Amino acid sequence: MAFPESFLEELANRNDIVDVVGGYVNFIKRSGSNQFGLCPFHGERTPSFSVHADKQIYYCFGCHKGGGVINFIMEIENLTFPDAVHFLASRAGMTVPDEGGNDEAIQRRARLLAANKEAARFYHNLLSTPLGHTAVDYINRRGISKEMVKTFGLGAAPDSWTALTDHLTRRGYSAEELLLAGLVRRSSKTGGVYDFFRDRLVFPVIDVRGNVIAFSGRILGDGEPKYLNTSDTPVYNKKRNLFGINLARKSPADHFLLVEGNVDVVSLHQAGFTSAIAPLGTALTTEQAQLLHRYKQEAILAFDADTAGQRATEASIKILEKTGIRVRVLRIPDGKDPDDFLKTRGPGAFQALLDQRETHIEYRLLSLRGAYDLERDPDRVAYLQEAQKLLAGLESDVELEVYGGRVAGQTGVSLESIKTGVKKFRDQKRKQQKRDFEKAGTRPTQAMQPENRALRYENAYSAIAEQGVLRLLLFDPTLYHNTLPLEPADFSAPFLGRAYEIIRGRIREGKENTASTLAPLFSSEEMGQIIHLLNQPENPADTKQALEDYIKKIQAEKRKRDPEANLLEIYKQ
Ligand code: CTP
Ligand code: MN
Repeated sequence: MAFPESFLEELANRNDIVDVVGGYVNFIKRSGSNQFGLCPFHGERTPSFSVHADKQIYYCFGCHKGGGVINFIMEIENLTFPDAVHFLASRAGMTVPDEGGNDEAIQRRARLLAANKEAARFYHNLLSTPLGHTAVDYINRRGISKEMVKTFGLGAAPDSWTALTDHLTRRGYSAEELLLAGLVRRSSKTGGVYDFFRDRLVFPVIDVRGNVIAFSGRILGDGEPKYLNTSDTPVYNKKRNLFGINLARKSPADHFLLVEGNVDVVSLHQAGFTSAIAPLGTALTTEQAQLLHRYKQEAILAFDADTAGQRATEASIKILEKTGIRVRVLRIPDGKDPDDFLKTRGPGAFQALLDQRETHIEYRLLSLRGAYDLERDPDRVAYLQEAQKLLAGLESDVELEVYGGRVAGQTGVSLESIKTGVKKFRDQKRKQQKRDFEKAGTRPTQAMQPENRALRYENAYSAIAEQGVLRLLLFDPTLYHNTLPLEPADFSAPFLGRAYEIIRGRIREGKENTASTLAPLFSSEEMGQIIHLLNQPENPADTKQALEDYIKKIQAEKRKRDPEANLLEIYKQ
């Protein structure tokens, strides 16, 4: 399953990292041949994500992820190494050399995606047969146009336990494959399998690459559960996908419209609001929020106006805020959902709602206010406390002035004293942040690699020298010679020792160590460590001497760890 290195080099050459990353990240700042933008892998407000055009690598100074173009695609598209290679090959119009067809995971994925596609086709075609009549009736009753049926590839799951199973079995798919894809369930009684979606309107879930990865099925009429959704499968992670993202990401709007139901998404698109999307039966996740921020600058929450919708709005604001995307909230009057509102009031009225969307602070202040009776003094005090806490989250003083002024008006308390209260909360928050930062600062190596124990440096002193060795050898492999008195076991950091072993082995075999050839050998966290050490300053005046010094330091540290080695040294003298 290994790809030839010449192919990987060519692949990297034809997928310039600046272009590839530019498809996901907005470059805000430039310095030399480095581009900076907001990191797509962790929430942040100031850009610490860098791409080096010369070295063809990326590195985030915040979360320490890094690597070459293949690592980037693995990480951002959530793909395995071989899948990322295929992804980039198709992007560059290259053919992937025959891998001998022995990579089971890739083939299984391809089979599952093909089965899903075939299922979507089956459901869709059923709409033009008598078996699809009830679904067509429902579609008409909900006022969904023929065009939307096509655009979304809607379909009908027939009122049958085996229709899809029979169809896909005839096409050569095994029961195992259909189970894996989540299209069927196994019956505990008979041991056979039966169709998961029955007598439902079917919405295919399509990812940003156009693959059918899952389905939602809405009941035709009233009844429970209203929606059935595919559970996670090898090709589908519900936390990372949204219904309609395949279409909405291409809409000209600079925002996404987040709604609750799949029907809401379809009606909005039908009315021209083509940036509508919906989570798939789960609360909005951080992964989904990051996916949104990758494509657009603003997320507008348009959940139902009932208590469940309000709760979902509060929770989603918190998740979205962390990614740095602008958050707005749309208030739909009369307890309606977007679909009802469009039906009764029309697209013009919906546009007017959109134009009046509230900032999330306005929205939260209003919701907060609803919880208190401002005529009562204790309520007023409590409201003021909560409101000040909220205002303390504002970064701009102008906003503080505006919204603080509003709270002042509501409570009859002066803006000045509100500002004093806000300052108190801000100071508290800042102190907490400082404490967190200091805590991280006293353990710098831990801060660098908080999750993966294996990558932590117990002996920072030695680790710095170990990084130096790797840096020098990566910059100048000719520095290596077989009598270098340094073995992987001499390293104090297991990861750096392993990296040395790999890099040394490749130098011995005359192989190049570039981001694309190292990518398959390390995880993106590990690549991040390598990029990080490459980014440390090095005095290039006498690299031979520098290498010797590093090795001496490593050996000395090792002797401290290992009294045995000390003894040997003594005998040697
Ligand atoms: N839901 C779900 N799975 C989906 C979509 C929505 O479980 N794929 C859930 C949501 O979590 C929410 C509810 O269904 O609780 C949304 O319902 P609603 O907005 O009423 O859905 P619509 O499709 O708009 O249905 P209706 O025909 O009632 O307008
Ligand atoms: Mn609805």
